Amino acid sequence: MGSTLERLFAKASYAAEAEPRLVDEQLFDAEWDYIKNAVPKRRAEFGTARVCARRGFAAMGLPPFAVVPGGDGAPVWPPGVVGSISHTAGYCAVVLGRDSLVRSVGLDVETLQELEPGLADAILTPAERAWVGAQPRSRQADLLIAFFSAKEAYYKCQYPLTRAFLEFGDVELELLPDLGRFIATARVPGLPRDVARLEGTFAFEDGRVLCGVELA
Ligand SMILES: CC(C)(COP(=O)(O)OP(=O)(O)OC[C@H]1O[C@@H](n2cnc3c(N)ncnc32)[C@H](O)[C@@H]1OP(=O)(O)O)[C@@H](O)C(=O)NCCC(=O)NCCS
Repeated sequence: MGSTLERLFAKASYAAEAEPRLVDEQLFDAEWDYIKNAVPKRRAEFGTARVCARRGFAAMGLPPFAVVPGGDGAPVWPPGVVGSISHTAGYCAVVLGRDSLVRSVGLDVETLQELEPGLADAILTPAERAWVGAQPRSRQADLLIAFFSAKEAYYKCQYPLTRAFLEFGDVELELLPDLGRFIATARVPGLPRDVARLEGTFAFEDGRVLCGVELA
């Protein structure tokens, strides 16, 4: 059956999650140069993601590779590989795929917590706000975070293909909670049609929401 994380991605080759810990000594020089001045918490999440990614490369029969963020923060993957990284409190996850099977992947994980009042207005479009408002009150806070995370996962999936910066209001979601699926539609001019509308999957687990988007 695999983990909940693995089940979010039908076409990816590898998905792993880990508790962040300091692994400075396992970083490659280029990774260390990038992260060495960061606080330990950030070094732990950055490093743990790299260790997970390298386990994935090995599982895929690929050699080790230094995963360094580009100038825009998006990770640069080895040739032939697509991937995505997410961190939240006490948790780090990586998903990898072969570009012959999947053109891009986006992963986002968020801790379920009360968001500051007013954040809903920043995250949700008017139609989404109406939909969330019609759900049972006890579910609304978690669903709001699911919207946030699903939009981040969509953003991470589309970005390597388009290099487009999107605001939350640029992306409209239809969330299908019973199916654990969502449809994300970006309403901005110029995005290729096959990128502008993508299906995603989500699941609640262990006080978090996990969201995945793949473009085959
Ligand atoms: C990049 C961004 C999506 C990261 O999301 P987050 O929830 O803050 O943080 P996460 O821990 O889940 O993800 C961090 C990882 O995202 C990846 N990432 C950063 N920029 C990225 C980009 N442009 N495209 C794809 N992945 C990116 C990195 O791998 C990073 O981990 P690393 O620094 O260890 O390599 C977010 O910080 C951001 O810049 N958002 C702006 C755009 C946006 O959110 N628009 C609204 C949604 S449409």
